[in-house]
Amino acid sequence: MTQRRTSIHGSWSGRLAFVLAATGSAVGLGNIWKFPYIAGENGGGAFVLVYLVCIATIGIPIMMAEVMLGRRGRQSPINTMRTLAEEAGASHLWRWIGWAGVLAGFLILSYYSVIAGWALAYVFRAAAGSFSGATAEGVASIFEQLTGDPERLLAWHTLFMVLTMIVVSRGVRGGLEKAVRFLVPGLFVLLILLDGYALASGAFDQGLEFLFTPDFSKITANGVLIAMGHAFFTLSLGMGAIMVYGSYLPERTSIARTSIIIASLDTLVALLAGMAIFPIVFVNGLEPGSGPGLIFQTLPIAFGHMPGGWLFGTLFFVLLVFAAWTSAISLIEPAVAWLVENKGMTRIYASVYAGIATWSFGLLTIMSFNRWAEFRPLSFVPIFKTYTVFDLLDYLTANIMLPLGGLFIALFSVWVMKRSDSVQELDMGDGAGYVLWRFLVRYVTPLAVLVVFLNVTGIVDFSGLLGLAE
Ligand code: PHE
Repeated sequence: MTQRRTSIHGSWSGRLAFVLAATGSAVGLGNIWKFPYIAGENGGGAFVLVYLVCIATIGIPIMMAEVMLGRRGRQSPINTMRTLAEEAGASHLWRWIGWAGVLAGFLILSYYSVIAGWALAYVFRAAAGSFSGATAEGVASIFEQLTGDPERLLAWHTLFMVLTMIVVSRGVRGGLEKAVRFLVPGLFVLLILLDGYALASGAFDQGLEFLFTPDFSKITANGVLIAMGHAFFTLSLGMGAIMVYGSYLPERTSIARTSIIIASLDTLVALLAGMAIFPIVFVNGLEPGSGPGLIFQTLPIAFGHMPGGWLFGTLFFVLLVFAAWTSAISLIEPAVAWLVENKGMTRIYASVYAGIATWSFGLLTIMSFNRWAEFRPLSFVPIFKTYTVFDLLDYLTANIMLPLGGLFIALFSVWVMKRSDSVQELDMGDGAGYVLWRFLVRYVTPLAVLVVFLNVTGIVDFSGLLGLAE
């Protein structure tokens, strides 16, 4: 048995703390804000099916791989990959997985924080009773007033970044473990309440049908890529967030079991959110494909009409902010850990440094909802014709960078790392479970990512075969 490394950043207090932190990272705006609107834009059922298949066959195995690499390397993803490559006698270039992850985390957080700022703003709107008795037009105008005003967006974005950097600067154990302990249960309770409202709305069946009846003629090749990209995004995979959390994981925790628990909770939250939102969409004659404003234009209607709605509304947006917060921390942790390891910075200094850089880049997203709302930088590329700067950032990170990161993590874990090392680190024996994991990571993930990429670029064309839309 090789000598075990230890992390200079400390470790989780135990298995539960890791599950909570990783669930906190996974459950975020991706589940409640993003999943419903991209499902709505990409035709519903078929999209949801592709997403679920990707979670099971790519997401869970890659999550296991990331935790395994992190726990073995015990450093920031960049140094973990360097160390493990050395251990396997492979090229130093593998550390670029870590660098690409740091870049992806930085880009994602820059817009994630702006959207989390919307949620912050809505906490106060809900508490002030602005939604009571609201109509679809009323809530739409509240939303447009907010997103149309760059200064207000900037103020909320700034506040959210400050909150994030405070927790990051205190280190992983500080506030994070505690926050997640009530966050996830609280989120469940409120989502179930909203599902109750949706159930009584009269359009629950229509919502279910939209989400769960796959019709492949409604999804395009690009929609399939978006579904796969979302599986990575929602589980925080492909950029080192789960890897760095794994590096703080104590020995003797079942990586397989915890990964399955985390992925299941994450999926449940997304489905509960979808089931709450679509009935409200249909009853109010709204457009399922209305984009990033979807939940901000639907849920307030529900809060505006249920008894005690201002209270539930406030609580809901508070929880959404917390969900975003615990994800945001993990987006920047790989960069902060690296600054501490390689630049000798204190955690506080590293957090401020990374925070200011991310905050500045967030200005691009803010502008793309108002001043640059009509700016379509890549309008000459057919699939990007209607994409704003924000849409492009989101697309590049979630659908290209994360799947590519995941692909290389997969390749490293089963083609470069010694088999005996992964058997030892996953600690599940060498039986059927291990063999299945190895098969999925060795063949299924790389092939799936490749095929979906090639299909979107039109280099190969499987769309006809599957009956996908043009
Ligand atoms: N998983 C988070 C969400 O669904 C987003 C995220 C992506 C967090 C990548 C960390 C890394 O909101």
